[in-house]
Amino acid sequence: MKKLLFLMVSVLVASVVLAGCGTSSNNGEGKKTLKVVTDAAYAPFEYMDKGEIVGFDVDFLKAVAKEAGYEINLVNVGWDPIFVEIEDEIADLAISAITINDDRKQSYDFSVPYFLSTNKILVPEGSDIKTASDLEGKVVAVQNGTTGQEAIESLLGKNNPNIKKFENNNLAIMELISGGADAVVADNTVVEEYAKNNPDQKLVVIADTDSFDSEFYGLMFPKGSKLKADFDKAIKTVVENGTYAKIYNDWFGSDPDLETLKQQY
Ligand code: ARG
Repeated sequence: MKKLLFLMVSVLVASVVLAGCGTSSNNGEGKKTLKVVTDAAYAPFEYMDKGEIVGFDVDFLKAVAKEAGYEINLVNVGWDPIFVEIEDEIADLAISAITINDDRKQSYDFSVPYFLSTNKILVPEGSDIKTASDLEGKVVAVQNGTTGQEAIESLLGKNNPNIKKFENNNLAIMELISGGADAVVADNTVVEEYAKNNPDQKLVVIADTDSFDSEFYGLMFPKGSKLKADFDKAIKTVVENGTYAKIYNDWFGSDPDLETLKQQY
């Protein structure tokens, strides 16, 4: 009995102590506010519009957080800092079109997948690049530390001087526009939307399923985060109850392939 009492008191003390630290805070209604980090230079997933962070990821995050019962404080910290803030538990989670892969899984936890993606190649109209193998000998711009960089490195070799790495993907695209690169490799939705929304720049997008795998985005948490369970549950609910399809439709004007997503659970 004494032992049990001691155990109960310890648990109580521990939870009071734990509640007092960390990154999250409580607002008036008792809902926890989570710090969420992103790199808002990746339209249409997250980008700045009139000083606000908007995008598919932002709407999705809002829906999922609401479902899970959390308030969010979304902060645009940039790509590399995301990984530092999650690893050091400065932030509670990240959303940034982040691909779930084995390498990252060693240092971070991920939610169930919420978006299917693949790398594609953005080139000027009339380019002689028609497949990924044509990138040999060409200058390719990528965002540093992305799966696009990884994909091009496995084609052209690590440390190949023809691979130009940028802090964000918009800078990589600018390099292409200004003629400093022959191609950009990045997530299909990003390059497709860019080409579509900037017809005057006359760009085309090339798919190469032999060279570029399917990828899935996930929310990223510090290793061992207790939030993962709540968010996984909430993601499954918004996928099931039609909220996900509505947000997807708002941004992309088509229906999502929910079956492929659910096969990954
Ligand atoms: N999906 C790719 C990756 O995880 C690129 C993501 C880049 N996201 C961004 N917001 N810049 O490596």
